[in-house]
Amino acid sequence: MAIWSNKFHEEMSQDAYQFNQSIQVDYRLLDADLRGSKAHAAMLGHQGILGLEESDSLVKELEQMRQDFADGTLAVDFTTEDVHSFIEAELTNRLGTIGKKVHTGRSRNDQVATAMRIYVLDELQDFIEKTQLAIEAILTKAEGHLDTIMPGYTHLQRAQPITYAHYLLAYAQMFSRDLSRFADLSNRVADDMPLGAGALATSTYPIDPFYTTDQVEGFTAPYVNSIDAVSNNDYAIEFLSDLAMMSMHMSRYAEETIMWSSQEFRFISLKDSFSTGSSIMPQKKNADIHELMRGKTGRVYGNLMSVLTIMKGLPLAYNKDLQEIKEQLFDGIDHVKAMLSLLPGMLEATIVNKEIMYAACGTGFLNATDCADYLTNKGMAFRDAYQVSGDLVGYCTKNHKSLEELTLAEYQEFSDLFDADIYDAIDLKNCVYRRNVAGGPAPEVVTAAIARVRANIS
Ligand code: ARG
Repeated sequence: MAIWSNKFHEEMSQDAYQFNQSIQVDYRLLDADLRGSKAHAAMLGHQGILGLEESDSLVKELEQMRQDFADGTLAVDFTTEDVHSFIEAELTNRLGTIGKKVHTGRSRNDQVATAMRIYVLDELQDFIEKTQLAIEAILTKAEGHLDTIMPGYTHLQRAQPITYAHYLLAYAQMFSRDLSRFADLSNRVADDMPLGAGALATSTYPIDPFYTTDQVEGFTAPYVNSIDAVSNNDYAIEFLSDLAMMSMHMSRYAEETIMWSSQEFRFISLKDSFSTGSSIMPQKKNADIHELMRGKTGRVYGNLMSVLTIMKGLPLAYNKDLQEIKEQLFDGIDHVKAMLSLLPGMLEATIVNKEIMYAACGTGFLNATDCADYLTNKGMAFRDAYQVSGDLVGYCTKNHKSLEELTLAEYQEFSDLFDADIYDAIDLKNCVYRRNVAGGPAPEVVTAAIARVRANIS
């Protein structure tokens, strides 16, 4: 029987009851709800709304339930409507009448909003730690490839030489922003404890939301408006948006790995530990894990869109529609966490084929900009130098040569500013090493960047 069914004369239809039920999904809020309920019970005693003895026994029993849950001895009744009703029923089973007092001055609306915020704060902490690990794995990989020269691309056309370390550091930046978004959201959630908001309009009991907030670890301030507290899910949307952004970053990395491990590129090879085979083609080695990472990104965008759509046009304050948000948020959390946890192993399982990467820089005139810069340094206006370098590329293409293969006499046909030091200027290694300005690919700059990222994430 549902906790609210006193005034109902007819039994609820079994189908409707099941449709309404959420314990299968919100069961994972159990520990978070017990912590919120403990805070509420303590506040009831502190404020004299319940006797101190009653409040103490509620707090103790709720803590005992946490213990039992952690030990696996708490038998959750999955026929209950939701985890919040289950907790009250279990408490009443254990304590009798005192258990029935836990809901004094509280509604399931602020109860569920509280459990969600506590749960989300835990999850954000876990994501912060896992993101730090992933960034550290990126930095470690980068340290091994400071002078691994490879083509950098724009429009998927070979553009200018970079290093594999410099490439990886781009992802370190993306994940560093993800990290700061998690931390930022964490502060906002901590600053908005909804317990005390009641159904929507607080309570006539002398509750103290500040005291309650102090009782829940990690929280810094109570809600400001009770209607907003029980009806807003901005934090869930923000979390999913952060997760969608993070999966987008992972998906881009995954896509490059898929592409670069193909026979067309062969820049990298995947160890067996992160590859799969084909059931029919014996020669195949597929990057299924990376593909799934790319695929799941679509799913996480779906979670975000679902929640935005559920919220759209909802009248204030609580509506049962809000129950649907949990499943979407949990799904996003589970899948992105799985992806993020795999990232260090994926990097470790990536074998970088340095020679093939370097050889790929030999075609495609990746040093054409450096050739133009050479002329500019000798006094030619950049646009004219660009033109001369472009003409040289045209000449090379026609004669099946690279810029390195041209003789000095051929160079001087195009400009008398060319001298023997042109070969030094277009040497691929020099092209990378001379880009030693802030944020560039030169190994010394990347080394400093690694140190900076490492200091920022710890
Ligand atoms: N299971 C519900 C949910 O998650 C709990 C809140 C119920 N509140 C109500 N007014 N029916 O949304």
